[in-house]
Amino acid sequence: MSVKLNNHYDNLVKNYLFSEVGKRVRVYQEANPDKKIIRLGIGDVTLPLAKPIVDAMQAAVIEMGEKSTFKGYPPEYGYDFLRKAIVDYYQNNDNVTLKMEDVFVSDGAKSDCGNIVEIFGDNPILIPDPVYPVYMDSNIMAGRKVTLVNATKENLFLPSPEGIKEDSYIIYLCSPNNPTGAVYDYDGLKAWVDFALKTGSVIIFDSAYESYVDGEEPRSIFEVEGAKKCAIEICSLSKSAGFTGVRCSWTIIPTELMVEDKSLNAMWARRQATKFNGVPYIVQKGAEAALKEEGLKASKETIAYYKRNAKLLTDLFTKKGIFFTGGISSPYIWMKTPRGLSSWEFFDELLNKVQIVGTPGSGFGANGEGFFRLTAFGSYEDTLEAVKRLDEIL
Ligand code: MLT
Repeated sequence: MSVKLNNHYDNLVKNYLFSEVGKRVRVYQEANPDKKIIRLGIGDVTLPLAKPIVDAMQAAVIEMGEKSTFKGYPPEYGYDFLRKAIVDYYQNNDNVTLKMEDVFVSDGAKSDCGNIVEIFGDNPILIPDPVYPVYMDSNIMAGRKVTLVNATKENLFLPSPEGIKEDSYIIYLCSPNNPTGAVYDYDGLKAWVDFALKTGSVIIFDSAYESYVDGEEPRSIFEVEGAKKCAIEICSLSKSAGFTGVRCSWTIIPTELMVEDKSLNAMWARRQATKFNGVPYIVQKGAEAALKEEGLKASKETIAYYKRNAKLLTDLFTKKGIFFTGGISSPYIWMKTPRGLSSWEFFDELLNKVQIVGTPGSGFGANGEGFFRLTAFGSYEDTLEAVKRLDEIL
């Protein structure tokens, strides 16, 4: 006799992509302790927190150590000071007007992308391929039926809803995209919003890389007319303010977003109140500072630093005539593997011959086969060295 398990887990690929990459790199390093590996695999930042953020967090630590200013459980949806800073950020940066109750502060875009599945029933799910594995895995774990939308070299990794069978879907979009770095323009996103409105679908829009947008492309889906009636947006400070280790993000569910007369905002509020105890005060103080003038200025400098790295890589690929997307409004560069190598073959070649770690495109979906992702989040010096090594092998 035994308990029943969630057998949907049997349908997952064996290891989470970045765990598998990490494992292979550890094995190589143990066997070759003298080799200097350059890590351009997982999209983890390397620059430290900016001074305004550190100052704000230090002041918050002092407050927590004084009886008169100590704080216990944070509000489960975020302190008002941070929700207000987020509302102001959208107003000033994207000309998007939100209400404070639209904003839910959280501990990471990854958790919310995974957890949001819980407020929906058994709907068909539309996910682009290739894709950030969290959308796919969370829905597989929940036993949902996933339909893949082809993102390919031909559509420059920006699939449109054209030709998709009409149904009420949960649709996952990420722009600037992880892994391809491709960015939807206004019309590209509008096509998805129109499709969602027409079919009663809901879009989960992952905007974790919005601060890398250089041109006129929307940074928030709510810049697109009608999106408040069909979209949820999940954003994070990980890649803009260096919060991958600090953990702070937000999810926007406009109160206007109703399904069958039910408010998704109210459902998520109920879910969070039950299952989440909020983000630490010290972290939220740091996040507030990141969204204020000095913090935003610092983020701009950080992003410029990473983009300089991206340019080193894209210049090399341009020189070599290698097809790539991303690297302009994105910290990711998505390149075609050389000589018809598979994604994992190229991974092994890079690791073994020139000690560079990237992420095999096939780990993001079948359409990623034959592609490879590099990140610009390394140090300038390491990226320079990586470009030298790549120049020899490509
Ligand atoms: C990535 O490398 O794709 C990112 O680290 C994903 C994440 O932010 O979880």
